[in-house]
Amino acid sequence: MARVGIYGASGYTGFELIKLLDRHPEVEIAFATARSAAGKSLSDIFPTLIDQPLVAAEQADLRGVDLIFTCLPHNTPELIPLVQAALDAGVKVIDFSDTFRLDDLDTYTRWRKQNHPAPELQRAAVYGLPELYRERIRKARLVANTGCYPLTAILPLHPLVKADLLAAGPVIIDSKSGVSGAGRSLSLKTHFGETHETFSAYSVGRTHRHLPEMEQETGLHIIFSPHLLPVYRGILSTLYINTKPGVRVADVREAYGVYASEPFVRLLPEGRLPELRHVVGSMNLAIGVQPVEDGCFILVACVDNLIKGASGQAVQSMNLMLGMEETTGLR
Ligand SMILES: NC(=O)c1ccc[n+]([C@@H]2O[C@H](COP(=O)([O-])OP(=O)(O)OC[C@H]3O[C@@H](n4cnc5c(N)ncnc54)[C@H](OP(=O)(O)O)[C@@H]3O)[C@@H](O)[C@H]2O)c1
Repeated sequence: MARVGIYGASGYTGFELIKLLDRHPEVEIAFATARSAAGKSLSDIFPTLIDQPLVAAEQADLRGVDLIFTCLPHNTPELIPLVQAALDAGVKVIDFSDTFRLDDLDTYTRWRKQNHPAPELQRAAVYGLPELYRERIRKARLVANTGCYPLTAILPLHPLVKADLLAAGPVIIDSKSGVSGAGRSLSLKTHFGETHETFSAYSVGRTHRHLPEMEQETGLHIIFSPHLLPVYRGILSTLYINTKPGVRVADVREAYGVYASEPFVRLLPEGRLPELRHVVGSMNLAIGVQPVEDGCFILVACVDNLIKGASGQAVQSMNLMLGMEETTGLR
């Protein structure tokens, strides 16, 4: 059995991660940490979960641990020392935040309005998208788990870029996410009274912090408008794409042949578009293709932000990093 530790186990992604690891046949949980919930048990917070004690991060014991997951909010000051200590102890790391996702340090500085806190770690990090970087993830010591919104942009767009089907010009992406995307901490923005029976856009255009990640992995210029959907989980992204003249729906569908043997990417049959309920609770990212007119298509991509969009994706990478079969514990 491999032994893993979880930092930030009392949050939404931590909760999903523990559920997945609990039924994983080749992994056992060495420790789980929390901040305000330290001293409690996981089952105190999520009564259906295992009775795992939650310790403060400083009390986590890395001895005999193979890999840690850091499920901490972005900009958590403790993140860099935790990651460094783990790597120094020979423990592999999968980080859930967007700290290590941007390869280019200048892009990081421009977007985050600060220098990268650990450039050496950034240079060692591998972008955690198995569909694109499977072999690199196998050998990685530090993996930056893909963001949930970016997943719904990168997986649908990457094959079309590779097949050279797209015309010049920006791609418009209109995404809607359930409120769990913002995490479990209290905030006015995700308060029930602020989200129930309403629907709103935020960080529209070229301002959302996930945009550079999408552009890095697709090489495209993107206009991105996220929306807060009054549901708990799931992301539905609508992508408006301009193709070169004469590109047929068959060409687009053929480009998605690269995913034919991917266990968790589903191209829906012609005429079908995915809905949240098709993917929620599953590891699948579903893609639908709708031709609009010559040179124009709409793609719809759906994912469960907490599973394939976060914790399931991390387990997929963990399986690769620990030399296990990639889908172990995921289906
Ligand atoms: N939610 C999603 O759909 C999603 C998808 C993809 C990626 N992510 C990324 O995954 C990470 C975790 O997200 P989440 O939604 O699970 O967040 P969350 O629900 O807010 O949980 C955060 C966890 O971190 C702990 N924590 C907070 N501040 C800490 C500190 N200073 N030191 C130690 N522990 C601390 C919290 O402990 P207490 O609760 O005990 O205070 C909790 O266990 C974030 O970087 C997020 O961007 C989230």
